[in-house]
Amino acid sequence: MIQPLPDYKNLDASGEAQQAALRMEARASAPASVHMFEQLVAPLLRENVRRVLEIGCGTAALSRRIGQRRPHASVYAADKSVGMLQMAQALIEQEQIGNVQLATWDVLNEPRPALAHAPFDLIISSVVIPYFTDEQIEALVPQWAQWLAPGGVLAFVEQDLNTDSVHFPDGQLPRDILAKHQRDIRPGWCLGLRPLLRGAGLTLLPRRSFLWTDQAYGPYTQEVLGRMADAARDREAITDAQWTEWKDGLTALANAGDFYYGLVYHLIAGRRE
Ligand SMILES: C[S@@+](CC[C@H](N)C(=O)[O-])C[C@H]1O[C@@H](n2cnc3c(N)ncnc32)[C@H](O)[C@@H]1O
Repeated sequence: MIQPLPDYKNLDASGEAQQAALRMEARASAPASVHMFEQLVAPLLRENVRRVLEIGCGTAALSRRIGQRRPHASVYAADKSVGMLQMAQALIEQEQIGNVQLATWDVLNEPRPALAHAPFDLIISSVVIPYFTDEQIEALVPQWAQWLAPGGVLAFVEQDLNTDSVHFPDGQLPRDILAKHQRDIRPGWCLGLRPLLRGAGLTLLPRRSFLWTDQAYGPYTQEVLGRMADAARDREAITDAQWTEWKDGLTALANAGDFYYGLVYHLIAGRRE
């Protein structure tokens, strides 16, 4: 069965690493991601941020931006997928970024690769939490909090999966394709991280929220919305004719300048005093 998302838990085993890397880079290249970095992440990059760890970095788009913004910081970017890290390494070389170091590391395994560089002024992760079980998240958050230097921040940039929406003339089709009522959205994935950060002894920073939106029907939104439609057709929620109506309709909206896709991301963060 076609899944609306690549299998991010096991990209190398599923053979989807390269496709997922292209998808992540397409998202990172969209103008909304540049604005999101400025609004959610840049305020965390105080002058005294010298050691940064990114967990589940994918193509290291976030780490590359952090490294460029803070050239005197050392950024350690870790991911379990070798395929993702290959693209990350190629991009680091292409962009001639000298302060981002990659590590192949499954964070569910022993933490030595990260601990060699601790303590950190910033530990950050973007859209990785949904790929852990509730028990794993409850164990990982306090562990990561312990790796912070005094004054250090543990931060998550996470999608609020209740909030995605698409403008479409036939209002039922997006409902059938996005199928929100069938989604297993777990309470601990996004805003639910706040109690865990508090429980780990951190002082919560004010939540920041950002509407990631695309008006251009660019490569990332085409891939996301196309894959959702493929999955809907596969589970027989829509017909072949509706699949075509969706693709053609989105293209027509884009050509008219009326395409809209939006999803809210939240920054959930806590500081070690
Ligand atoms: C949705 S992608 C997000 C990538 C990147 N943070 C971004 O926002 O572009 C999720 C990433 O988490 C990684 N990942 C999933 N489980 C992991 C684990 N146990 N240890 C390390 N990385 C993991 C995947 O390989 C993938 O690169």
